[in-house]
Amino acid sequence: MSRSAHPAGPRHADVLTEGHYSAPAADLNVLDGKVWSRTVTRDADGALTVGGIAVARLAEEFGTPAYFLDESDFRARCRAWSEAFGPDADVFYAGKAFLSRAVVRWLKEEGLNLDVCSGGELSTALDAGMPAERIAFHGNNKTVAEIERAVEAGVGRIVLDSFQEIVRVAHIAQRHGVRQRVQIRVTVGVEAHTHEFIATAHEDQKFGIALADGQAAEAVRRALSLDGLDLIGVHSHIGSQIFDMAGFEVSARRVVQLLAEIRDEHGVELPEIDLGGGLGIAYTSEDDPREPHEIAKALSDIVTRECEAAKLRTPRISVEPGRAIVGPTAFTLYEVGTIKPLEGLRTYVSVDGGMSDNIRTALYDAEYSVALVSRTSDAEPMLVRVVGKHCESGDIVVKDAFLPADLAPGDLIAVPATGAYCRSMASNYNHALRPPVVAVRDGEARVIVRRETEEDLLRLDVG
Ligand code: LLP
Repeated sequence: MSRSAHPAGPRHADVLTEGHYSAPAADLNVLDGKVWSRTVTRDADGALTVGGIAVARLAEEFGTPAYFLDESDFRARCRAWSEAFGPDADVFYAGKAFLSRAVVRWLKEEGLNLDVCSGGELSTALDAGMPAERIAFHGNNKTVAEIERAVEAGVGRIVLDSFQEIVRVAHIAQRHGVRQRVQIRVTVGVEAHTHEFIATAHEDQKFGIALADGQAAEAVRRALSLDGLDLIGVHSHIGSQIFDMAGFEVSARRVVQLLAEIRDEHGVELPEIDLGGGLGIAYTSEDDPREPHEIAKALSDIVTRECEAAKLRTPRISVEPGRAIVGPTAFTLYEVGTIKPLEGLRTYVSVDGGMSDNIRTALYDAEYSVALVSRTSDAEPMLVRVVGKHCESGDIVVKDAFLPADLAPGDLIAVPATGAYCRSMASNYNHALRPPVVAVRDGEARVIVRRETEEDLLRLDVG
């Protein structure tokens, strides 16, 4: 990543070497289509518009901070994924990235399936009418009540994550007189190139059952021996925000090897493999994500090749993108409250939200972009740190970025690519009220998750 000083940027050499910022864009008014959703543009007055509506109007009607989700972009991404994988594969949207009843309806209309990982996500999916057979239920410690609910509802698959769960799900299914379709989540030993806390397929972590020491083969033996279970395949998820397909290739190869071993030992060819989610998106102009058709081709080529080599029928592939579908479709709109230039360091720009609506910067050192969106400006770029209003110095939204030097309180700024893991990981820290999610499409904006109110907070506090 390039690091550069700018005349309006910091002057101290130590700060320069600590920064993770790139050179300012030649023109800060230009919105990079890579990080903004598809209908975002600037209108004749220079204000950002999404779905044909200017941000000033959105701020006036819905307040700030708020997430604005570009519905037609969301739907287009769903279609791109399902067309790329075609009729012989299944795309499960990972609801943990962001889930609401409107989102469930869009997924249903666009023909996607849904991965849920808690009773709450399951009930949102069912309430909004997602057919149960299109739901996959995940989690490393599903409660008995959650498993009961999933089995009763008739979910299409439960992804088994431990030896205890194999037995639990089998008992519950038997009690309900059904054979539950299940997959076994295996850890394939791949270290995805991502932040340590969000890589999941290396062995020293809580998810899945390890391939390496024969545990996965043993789990398959047990699952095949239990009447309540219909083992349909093997699942692997290797991490998050991954750009390099090499990790997926190794994962696919190892999963296919396991299918071959299962065929040799048990004489059954499991019909499905799931390669999980984790595909990266552009948070800044320097990120270069793959298109769904490239990902689909890379995955299906490797699975086909490995299956031919092992003389296996090619299984049906499924994938679980969350971030890659919803991430790029939303931005967070903030109002600038205070501006503190720290001589020789940088300028702190405080907004009306912060770590309660985007914990990713504090938690993962995630990088984001930011732009002045209520107007354009010809002022010089200044190096800023966009911070929130919480009582915590790590309350950073955008660590290092450039905004025009004439930025003033009352300006609206927006952080793109906040559709995934921002509202879904939002908190009430400092009794902040979680922002609304507003869907914008064809000149119309409607709230799909309303803003929390102080009454909501007080209602939970029963005195
Ligand atoms: N499938 C499974 C089994 C998963 O565990 C996950 C994410 C996904 C699919 C979706 O991954 P995606 O395509 O969205 O990367 N909070 C972190 C990400 C944690 C992801 C956990 N599992 C973040 O904000 O980056």
